Parts: sequence; C-alpha cells; structure tokens
Amino acid sequence: MSCVAVIGAQWGDEGKGKIVDFYTEFANMVVRWGGGPNAGHTLVVNDDKVVVRLLPSGILREGTKCVLGQGMVVDLAVLLGEIDELGRRGQKGIAENLVVSNRAHLVLSYHILVDGLREARQGIGTTKKGIGPAYEDKVRRTGIRAGDLADFGKLAKKVEAALDQWAPIIQAFGGEVPTVDSVVTPLEPLAKRVLPLLGDTSKIVDHAIRTGGKVLLEGAQGTLLDVDHGTYPYVTSSSPVAGGAAVGAGIGPNRIDTVIGITKAYATRVGGGPFPTELDDSDGVHLREVGAEFGAVTGRPRRTGWLDLPALKYAARVNGLDGLALTKLDVLTGLKRIRVCVAYDTKEGRVTDFPIDLIDEPGRATPVYEELEGWSETLGNARVLDDLPLAARAYVRFLEEGAGVPLFLVSVGPRRRETIILHNPFVGRAAAP
Ligand code: GDP
Ligand code: IMO
Ligand code: MG
Repeated sequence: MSCVAVIGAQWGDEGKGKIVDFYTEFANMVVRWGGGPNAGHTLVVNDDKVVVRLLPSGILREGTKCVLGQGMVVDLAVLLGEIDELGRRGQKGIAENLVVSNRAHLVLSYHILVDGLREARQGIGTTKKGIGPAYEDKVRRTGIRAGDLADFGKLAKKVEAALDQWAPIIQAFGGEVPTVDSVVTPLEPLAKRVLPLLGDTSKIVDHAIRTGGKVLLEGAQGTLLDVDHGTYPYVTSSSPVAGGAAVGAGIGPNRIDTVIGITKAYATRVGGGPFPTELDDSDGVHLREVGAEFGAVTGRPRRTGWLDLPALKYAARVNGLDGLALTKLDVLTGLKRIRVCVAYDTKEGRVTDFPIDLIDEPGRATPVYEELEGWSETLGNARVLDDLPLAARAYVRFLEEGAGVPLFLVSVGPRRRETIILHNPFVGRAAAP
C-alpha cells in the first residue's frame, strides 16, 4: 500500500507540477483533489513546456490513471480545452485514463462573473477564475455538481435557485444577471463529452490503494493560501493542506502514508496579502528574472522574497510533513549572499514560530535574517548532493535542519533529469535517477 501526498508548503507555485510529473514515473495513479483552474502546474518534458490547470500533472506519462476528485471545482470548458490541447500535441489515451468525480462542483459563468466584479472592490488578487464563488455555492448548498449534467431539466432548476442567490450581489456590483438559458445551453455540448468521464472517484482511489497501487495525491495552491491555515483573508477558498487531500480525494486520512511538502529555495507570492520576507531590491529582481517568476495562469509578475523558515516549520506542522522537496535551488546561483528568515522580532520578544496573526499589521513582526554564503556555479548537472558546490550544500542542509523535516529531493532545474533524489517514498532510499 503506497499513497503519497504532495503539498505546496508556501503560497503556491512551488514546482508541484514538476515534482508530481517526476514522481509519476513510480506511481499508477495521480489524483488532483482540490482547487480548480486557479492552479497552473508547469511540466517540462524534452524542452517542451505544458501548463495544466485541471488535469493532474501525471497526465504526460501514458497509462497513468488520472483522477479529478470531488474536492475540486471544475470548469468544463477549461478541462476539455486541456484535453484537446494535449491531444493536438500527440498525447494518446487521455480520456481512457481520466476519471472525474461526479460530485466535483462545476465552475459556471456566473461564478466567473461574480469573481471579476467583486475582485475590483475586495482586492484579494484572485485569479478571477470563479473559484471563490464556486466554493461558496458548494457550502451554501446551491452548487451544481458534475453528476447533475445527466439531467438538464433538473440542472436548469438548480441553476435558477443559485442565480436567485447571486442576483442581488451581481446587481449590487453593477453587473447583469445572466438568464438560466445563457448558463445552461452552452453546457450541453460540453456535457456530452464529460459525462462518459464521470465516476465515483472515492471508490476508485480507495480501491487502488487497497489493491497495492501506488497513488500520488497532487496538491494545488499552497499551505499559506489555505482557507483555514493561510494568511486569511488573502487565501483561496479551499483546503490545500494535507488534511484536505483526504477529504478531497474521498479516502480516510490513515490511507496516506507519506506527506511531502514542496518549497522553493526562496519565496514567492502572487496576488495580495502579507509577505514578510518580500524584497523590492536587486535580489528580488534576480529571483523574478532568473526564476522566471510570472504566473502560469495569469502571467502576473510574482512577488519575490527570501525563504521564511518559521513559515516552513508552520507548514510542517499543519500538514504533518514527512519530507521536503526543495525546488529552484539553481535560481540562487549568482547571488553573493543569501538570506533566510530564521525568527521574528515582535513586541513580546523574538519568536521562532511563524507569527501568522501578526504579519498582516506592518511593524508588528519583523523578520530576523541569517546570512549564508552564495555560489556562482550552475547547478543543472548535479545529480547527487556532492555534485553541488560547498556553499549550496551548506544552504540545503541549513534549510533541512531549520525546517526539522528530512530532505527527500532537491530540484536544480525545470526538467525531469535536473533532480537530486535523496529518498523516494515509492521505492525507498535511492541514488541518482
Ligand atoms: P506549481 O504551481 O507548484 O506547479 O508551480 P508552477 O508551475 O506554477 O511554477 C513553477 C515554475 O518553476 C515552473 O515554470 C517550473 O517549470 C519551474 N521549475 C520547477 N522546478 C524548478 C527548478 O528546480 N529550477 C528552475 N529553474 N525552475 C523550476
Ligand atoms: P498553484 O496550484 C499561486 C492565489 C491567487 C490569490 C488567491 C485567491 O499553481 O500553486 P483564487 O483565484 O484562488 O480565489 O485566488 O490565491 N492563488 C494562487 N497563487 N499558485 C496557485 O496555484 C494559486 N491559486 C490561487 O493569486 O492571491
Ligand atoms: Mg502554479
């Protein structure tokens, strides 16, 4: 029995796509269990770049079962667009290996409308993909689920009930309330293609685990965007932490054997909200330019900063991390000195826990940095830790010790081969690939 969850340990975009694609070589099934097309996971295979938003990042490995769990919110047009795009690129067998939960909620046109209208006033910096309103409909019990596509008569009534709830909000923001027809009619051709993909994914995933399958649970977003554990209200509307994986995939938490947290060797955030280690100097520009830190979904420049060890320890706690995958170490090449936040100064004194309730007020919690030596060598060819320059090795070990979580993997470039494996949860201790 082997079930591994991969979780974003920061504010998203940690490199989950690359790491999940990498681990899929050892897995039979990859399950996306939360979020929706707000995610943008980048896969680089033979210098070809693919960004998936709804499809699991295992999709490029032919024969791997790919599952969209019930914790997701699915925009049918985006999903089918992704399937078609991969088909055009020559990918075979996508539909045969794909199952979408009949209980996953749909992102509909009015969710996108409300997200856009509200964002102008709220200033969260959402991706405007309708994610918040779709999850709101789910918890308000007016959501439309994928299984509803089987009966358009009933579906239209449910859409009408949802629109009744949204109408005053849409009007208050100066928008035009859509008609039921304008929402439902465009769904009909999409439904024809999606209905054959629907299934009881909880049963499918549980069965795979029980029968010895190797299952990868692919997180989206990141711990600090979690609606409970993130920097609220500057968060997404789902639970990207490990606990959400069990709920969203429909399995018991005890079925998950290993939880891996992914962190960049520095930090980024896209959208609004507190980011205590943010840089606005030439080092920040280095991280953005060398790290190509521009949103995979929206193209927005990502905010950049130093790694925050208290925040990483916080992620280790709320997710129960067993291991760390450290990505984008190569991006630090060329920096003379690298800083890491190791504590915070607060009115009550110095703390090493992440002061999440203080960081939204400027001046209440100031990062305390430790400075480490940089290096100038390129790292892309390193396959074992000993291939790294001494200063890079010292940096990696410093982070591992500071986080209190063993390193499982270090990524030194976007491609599959640019990876140092220290521990592979699917096969035990391993040397280079
Ligand atoms: P995700 O949302 O967590 O899957 O991450 P994104 O795909 O949004 O952003 C991560 C970006 O970093 C992508 O462009 C990846 O191709 C790239 N990437 C991943 N790992 C590495 C790495 O180790 N080094 C470099 N230079 N780029 C990486
Ligand atoms: P992946 O899976 C980075 C951010 C948005 C915004 C906040 C709320 O690629 O790591 P939403 O549209 O979800 O209501 O936006 O969350 N956000 C992400 N940031 N990576 C993501 O996904 C994100 N998904 C949402 O920028 O600040
Ligand atoms: Mg991303």
